[in-house]
Amino acid sequence: MRSLRKTVLLAILVSVVLVLALIHSWPTRAYTTVDVWQRSGSILERHLEERLPELDHRLGNIPFHVRDKCGKLVGTSCSPRVSAHPLHTAFEASDLEEMKRRRAKEYKSFPEERLTIPYSIQRRGGASSPKNNYHPRLGLTRLPRDHYSINFTAMLGTLNVAAEVDGVKIKGDSEMHMTLSSSLLPNLNRQLQFVTYTNTLFNPSTADHRDSPMLETEGHQASFSIKIQHGVTPKLYNTGSKGEYNVSALVTIATKTFLRYEKLQNLIDSVRRYYPTVTIVIADDSENPQTISGPYIEHYIMPFGKGWFAGRNLAVSQVTTKYVLWVDDDFIFTSDTKLEKLVDVLERTTLDLVGGAVREATGYTATYRQTISIESGEEDGDCLHLRRGFHHVIQGFPNCVVTDGVINFFLARTDKVQQVGFDPRLARVAHLEFFIDGLGSLHVGSCDDVIVNHATKIKLPWTSQSESDKTYAKFRYPPASSDATHTKNGLLFFKNRFQCLTHN
Ligand SMILES: *[C@@H]1O[C@H](CO)[C@@H](O)[C@H](O)[C@H]1NC(C)=O
Ligand SMILES: *[C@@H]1O[C@H](CO)[C@@H](O)[C@H](O)[C@H]1NC(C)=O
Repeated sequence: MRSLRKTVLLAILVSVVLVLALIHSWPTRAYTTVDVWQRSGSILERHLEERLPELDHRLGNIPFHVRDKCGKLVGTSCSPRVSAHPLHTAFEASDLEEMKRRRAKEYKSFPEERLTIPYSIQRRGGASSPKNNYHPRLGLTRLPRDHYSINFTAMLGTLNVAAEVDGVKIKGDSEMHMTLSSSLLPNLNRQLQFVTYTNTLFNPSTADHRDSPMLETEGHQASFSIKIQHGVTPKLYNTGSKGEYNVSALVTIATKTFLRYEKLQNLIDSVRRYYPTVTIVIADDSENPQTISGPYIEHYIMPFGKGWFAGRNLAVSQVTTKYVLWVDDDFIFTSDTKLEKLVDVLERTTLDLVGGAVREATGYTATYRQTISIESGEEDGDCLHLRRGFHHVIQGFPNCVVTDGVINFFLARTDKVQQVGFDPRLARVAHLEFFIDGLGSLHVGSCDDVIVNHATKIKLPWTSQSESDKTYAKFRYPPASSDATHTKNGLLFFKNRFQCLTHN
């Protein structure tokens, strides 16, 4: 009897423990996940190539004579050439192969601007830049005739052929109106493979600058659209040799300080415990700046009280690594501040910025995730909605989510942060303004498993504040009716064209 009661008791205990464990591991809300992993090669490119099969494989057997870059048959004289300076000489011959390998790796993952050119094969720097030629893929089918003729008419550029095919007559090459004619359809189609377009009238100010060359053949008309723009110049960073992430080569830590030198020194000391050779850039607008020196430290002194966003801008402008880690000057690195994890997220996904978590002295940890949305409001301006939360969990990174704004502790692609910029007019109270300015161009994530500590902020009545803390508080946390708040609202109203703001 006793043993039965014991067994029942044990069973009850086990099930209570099981239920507790289940409750603990049960997600409080089933979040959807999203796949933001980087893909190599353009999906669009593959799609277009599939859609445009070779018209006729037999065309490949029709011979042709290649013209040179000046549009003449190879072998004839060309216009005077300018000499090109080789650039690889910047590296030692022994390092060159390694540099080429690293450059190729970075180039492969460089987020390329996707172009939308119908009827073409998409390539990097595709489309027609003012200096490059563009080869449309064209052909005629099922037109039984004795003689075939096609007219091309462009508006903003000239037409030409890269090679000449026997039995095809070319008229008006290098002009805006070109005629190709032949009695042999396969030869004409072969010739069409070598038609090139060169833009001559370039208007860089038009966002959607296109030429639509017209094709005319007996009884039929067609046109195709060519987007005209310069190819995007890549901005690649040398991220070190292969193997594990080298944080010193990949990341610069940027911070802004104002009067709080003890806090800053604690931050530097804590960083050095884990990352002894990572560069720390400090922007400082204190009234009587003190010297901060040490290896891998850059200290920039600014005019007194220049402000919070001006300092962030200055610090970020000096970063030369692929990523910049933003920290406040009163943060402390611990063994949970694993920058490699944040680097890994940015290296593998299409995100531009990923926030971590900040642990308060009380043990409370915050990620401060915000979603930002804009409701259009016609003439009076739009309405800005800020909400705590996020969009989706990131597939493959269960601790990370896609969101729109994060806490003051984030790793970001340096060039993206520099593009968005920190508005220097926001001198005191500001943070989400950066994410509002970046909405639509800056892709943001947040992970709660990379944690930095926050030196205590909550002031208890019996703890005495140091003089510098008091002055700091006066500048940093002005009353709501102050000029700083007016500036902030004024910028949202005028610069971002909002008429209202809601938040929770
Ligand atoms: C091509 O253009 C010429 C004038 O340049 C014109 O005489 C001819 O009829 C046109 N052919 C077609 C097929 O449109
Ligand atoms: C990491 O990068 C730094 C800075 O570029 C470099 O000095 C160091 O040698 C690298 N370390 C390794 C292990 O590659």
